[in-house]
Amino acid sequence: MVKKPTITIVGSGYVGLTTAAILANVGYKVFALDTDSKKIEIIKNGKAHFFESGLDQFVKKGIDSGNLIPTLSYKEAIPESDVVFSCVGTPDKNDGSSNLEYIFASAREAAKNAKNGMIYVQKSTVPVGTGREVIKKMCRANPKLEFSYVSNPEFLAEGSALFDSLNMDRVVIGSDDRAAANKVEKVFQDIIDFSKKLDHKKYADYARFYCDKAASKKAVPETAILLTALESAELVKVSSNAFLALKISFANNIAKLADAVGSDISEVMDGVGGDHRIDRSFFYAGLGWGGGCFPKDVSGLIAIAEKKGVDMPIMTAAVDVNTGMVEYVADKIKRSLKSRKRAVIAVLGLSFKPGTSDIRRSQSVKLANLLANRGHWVQAYDPKANGEAKPALDKSVQVFDSTYSAVAGAHCVVLATEWKDFITADWKKIKKLMKGKVVVDARNKLDEDELKKIGFTYEGVGR
Ligand code: UDX
Repeated sequence: MVKKPTITIVGSGYVGLTTAAILANVGYKVFALDTDSKKIEIIKNGKAHFFESGLDQFVKKGIDSGNLIPTLSYKEAIPESDVVFSCVGTPDKNDGSSNLEYIFASAREAAKNAKNGMIYVQKSTVPVGTGREVIKKMCRANPKLEFSYVSNPEFLAEGSALFDSLNMDRVVIGSDDRAAANKVEKVFQDIIDFSKKLDHKKYADYARFYCDKAASKKAVPETAILLTALESAELVKVSSNAFLALKISFANNIAKLADAVGSDISEVMDGVGGDHRIDRSFFYAGLGWGGGCFPKDVSGLIAIAEKKGVDMPIMTAAVDVNTGMVEYVADKIKRSLKSRKRAVIAVLGLSFKPGTSDIRRSQSVKLANLLANRGHWVQAYDPKANGEAKPALDKSVQVFDSTYSAVAGAHCVVLATEWKDFITADWKKIKKLMKGKVVVDARNKLDEDELKKIGFTYEGVGR
């Protein structure tokens, strides 16, 4: 039997740790390398240092088997690694572009410690053209090193990271070096074969309703593996996210029109998305998109297009629609509250989407802050993101530790992030606890008829 290559995953965030844990469960020896000793300590204890459904079990199994080796040391991991995946963060710069400092630093460090023949795989989302720059920097860091460079964009979504990584629509492998691409392809083929033997229902515990459908039927019958040019793979990633963001902004734009003409956006999008060429996914209207990827990838695409002298009006429009949704919902709240200038408003949900504690570019946080700035008394609660959200919230926003304490005395309740806990909450109890009776469903996920029966006035987005 051919010996499996030894792997290092640099960066133990959502992408890195999920990939490392899966590969360790597949049977690879995997070093999970991170510079943060707190994270490494938690992983050593068989846990993920962030909330991601099902991941702890995979990390624990990896640690118990000895296949998953958390480490702080390049010197320990890289010299024996045949394949090194870069999954380091690309934080936002002030101008909205990605800070590539960690991308370059980890590539240099890997080059200095690598053995000849190492395949360096870039999984982090980087602007098109970054690969060539990384190659140059690696050559400079260790001129004698023979290595190959591969771009392998990651498509997992937070909140369903494990499920997505085990049910990939496609794997994109971009490189000038076909032999290296084939070796990376083999790693992914092993994941696909491993995934086929799993009981997916066990891991498909997702809070998002639009994910449930895919999760219950096993999203993809077959995974396509695409071998491409280096720059093509880089462009696939940002273009995919940009298109998904565009779809949501399109749905939100139509939702405004639906409000104006009195139609129901959910029915409209069922009809539009029923065309298999268009598809229903990412057509859910509401408060708009946020998170660590869409905002950055869209602005990154606009920036590179500008640099190359290419107009990208379609994406700037998507951003404008998205930015406007927070105000649109805040104005709806204002109208629902009629003459009341200042009100107690409960904001349910602060994470950028359910199933995660991540609040980066969260539209829900923006809404809470806008309402506070307009002079309302805002009472917020999130099942997982209270801690992360607090520093990002206006000082006047009060954060509560349960749905029921957050809604007490409120004139209006807003569903900002569609956690299942809110959808399945006891709305009769909520009504009794509130002072008023206004519900603004900024994610169109509540049962309108049921709420009206209880005595609420209901407002959705486009319905
Ligand atoms: C995204 C991509 O989906 C994933 O493929 C890529 O690898 C990383 O970026 P993520 O940012 O984790 O993943 O979240 P996603 O589930 O895509 O949602 C992004 C935002 O869009 C969230 O704020 C969500 O609330 C919003 N959204 C999504 C909608 O408003 N409507 C929809 O129909 C879908």
